[in-house]
Amino acid sequence: MLWHPVKVTRVCGSEHEPVRAVRAFVLDAAAGALAGRVHDVDLGDVDLCASEVATNSFIHSASRLSGGGIEVRVLVSGRGLRVEIEDDGGMTLPKVQPEDDARECGRGLMIVEALASAWGYDGGGTTWFEVC
Ligand SMILES: Nc1ncnc2c1ncn2[C@@H]1O[C@H](COP(=O)(O)OP(=O)(O)OP(=O)(O)O)[C@@H](O)[C@H]1O
Ligand SMILES: [Mg+2]
Repeated sequence: MLWHPVKVTRVCGSEHEPVRAVRAFVLDAAAGALAGRVHDVDLGDVDLCASEVATNSFIHSASRLSGGGIEVRVLVSGRGLRVEIEDDGGMTLPKVQPEDDARECGRGLMIVEALASAWGYDGGGTTWFEVC
C-alpha cells in the first residue's frame, strides 16, 4: 500500500503528559488527512492504539529519560491511516505478552493487536500500526 506522509512531530516529557500530546497530535492530523472521509476509519481505534504505543515508549524505552523523546509520524493512504512512533530504544522489544489473568499489566499490545489492521516493530526503534 502507498502511504503518504501527513504530519511529523517530536514529543518529549514525562509520564502521561507527552502521551496526551501524542493523542491530540494524531487525532488532529488524522482528521485533517481524512477530511471528507473521516467515517472510513475508526478514530477511537486510532486514538487507543496511539495511546498504548506512545505510553510504551515513555515507560519501556530510553525516551523516558531526561533529554529523550519520540518522533510521531502520521501517514494516510486511500484505505486508512498509519502511525509510526520512533523511540530511543530499550532493553526489551515490543512484544505481545502471553495472556495471564493474574497480571495487572501486559495488555497494551494485545489491544493494539485486536484493534489495528496491522502493527509491527521495525527493529530500529519504530513501532507502527495501521487502521484501515
Ligand atoms: N517501545 C518499547 N520499547 C521496548 N520494549 C517495549 C516497547 N513497547 C513494548 N515493549 C515490551 O513489550 C511488552 C508488552 O507491552 P504491552 O504494552 O503489551 O504491556 P505493558 O506495557 O507491559 O503493560 P500495559 O500496556 O498493560 O500497561 C512490555 O512489557 C515491554 O517489555
Ligand atoms: Mg503497554
